[in-house]
Amino acid sequence: MNKIVVNGGRRLSGEVVIGGSKNAALPLLFGGIATGEVCIFSNLPRVSDVLQTLEILKFLGARIRFLPGGDVRVDYSAVQSGRAPVALTASIRGSTYLLGSMLARFGRAELAAAGGCDFGSRPIDQHLMGFECLGAKVSSNADGVVVEAPNGLCGTVIRLAMPSVGATANLMIAASMARGETVIENAAAEPHVAALAAFLCDAGAEITGVGSDRIRIVGQPELHGTRNVIIPDMIEAGTYLCAGVACGGPVRVRAVCPSHLHPLLNAFREMGVKVETGEHHVTVTAAEPYQNISVVTGPFPAFPTDLHPQMTALFALGGRAEGEGAVTELVWESRFRYTQELCRMGARIDIADRCARITPQALHAAKLRSPDLRGGAALLLAALATKGKSEITNAATIGRGYEHLEQKLRALGAHISVS
Ligand code: EPZ
Repeated sequence: MNKIVVNGGRRLSGEVVIGGSKNAALPLLFGGIATGEVCIFSNLPRVSDVLQTLEILKFLGARIRFLPGGDVRVDYSAVQSGRAPVALTASIRGSTYLLGSMLARFGRAELAAAGGCDFGSRPIDQHLMGFECLGAKVSSNADGVVVEAPNGLCGTVIRLAMPSVGATANLMIAASMARGETVIENAAAEPHVAALAAFLCDAGAEITGVGSDRIRIVGQPELHGTRNVIIPDMIEAGTYLCAGVACGGPVRVRAVCPSHLHPLLNAFREMGVKVETGEHHVTVTAAEPYQNISVVTGPFPAFPTDLHPQMTALFALGGRAEGEGAVTELVWESRFRYTQELCRMGARIDIADRCARITPQALHAAKLRSPDLRGGAALLLAALATKGKSEITNAATIGRGYEHLEQKLRALGAHISVS
């Protein structure tokens, strides 16, 4: 997926079936290393970050089979302790989960570099601090990081400086095989953290307090293989709901957990968008213009940072949005690069500190470059809602997190082609 061409300005309506969550799939796939056995994953999204993860696992010795019906069987028994090539790990953030899972199983882990979207600095100091609390020795230099605990890990209390999703997940995996009890304080409560805990418990770990800021893990000498159905992707679902709002709707997302979408749905209601929820679906309709509001991102259950760019796009659409909108980004220090591209479409966005103020303007089609996954999704939304032919290059960034994007948007009535 290099380039997306959109003939925008069409009303979108219909249904989209949402796939498995990328950000749940990554820690589970890496976490499986700790089991050393066979794990079978259903609803695994075939997005490039997941495919890259499977490549890393394969390099390390895992045997992977795509089963008829769509499940993926990963046999971790032959995984060897070692370093995956930087060419594989450097492009995805999820590769940091190699540290917790290799450490748990082999008492040693190495990582040359982890990548992911560029939002300024993305330190892993909290992951490393936690490993040290568990008794590991951490050494890092220009070649990467090595974490060692030849005599095993020892349960303890770890207090995170911020509720980091990655650090919580990595430490949960490591602590699942530590001696005794570990408590993670100021833990992340995202649904994908809960999904990892459920996976580890099915594999034999004892974990309680998930969904709160205090997670308790009783380590086990061994974990075993298990089956898992990846939870629905709340960010993919939220993006299609935003497409429905941008382009009128009604758009229904199916196979979702509506409770994971509450912060977004509450924002929509405040904007005057009609929202209807069922057990596993959500429908939005925005036949009339909507009112811009103010959103502030934060750890779950606050408004998700991964839906922030999409909201900015909604707020920018003259003729659809009314009033000034504001998006304050409190999770990432630098996640506004996509706004420069929206401005090339005629958007008016003023950024001061960590807040973008958006005044709706009539936008025009343009040639755009996606800077990152969700920023690219925001450009796509603006292009879908704006009359004329827009092009988005560097579209592989969007393919990191959206499965069957072209088919799903076409089914809603979009004129889109992906090459
Ligand atoms: C995960 O990244 C997601 N990625 C991100 O989604 C998401 O934006 C983020 O969580 C927040 O929800 C994956 O799950 C692969 P964090 P992660 O650790 O784990 C600071 C997407 O679009 N921090 O919760 O890397 C950090 O700098 C992606 O799908 C430290 O300072 O995020 C940030 O400001 C993009 N030290 C904040 O905490 C640390 O050791 C939250 O980071 C760790 C984090």
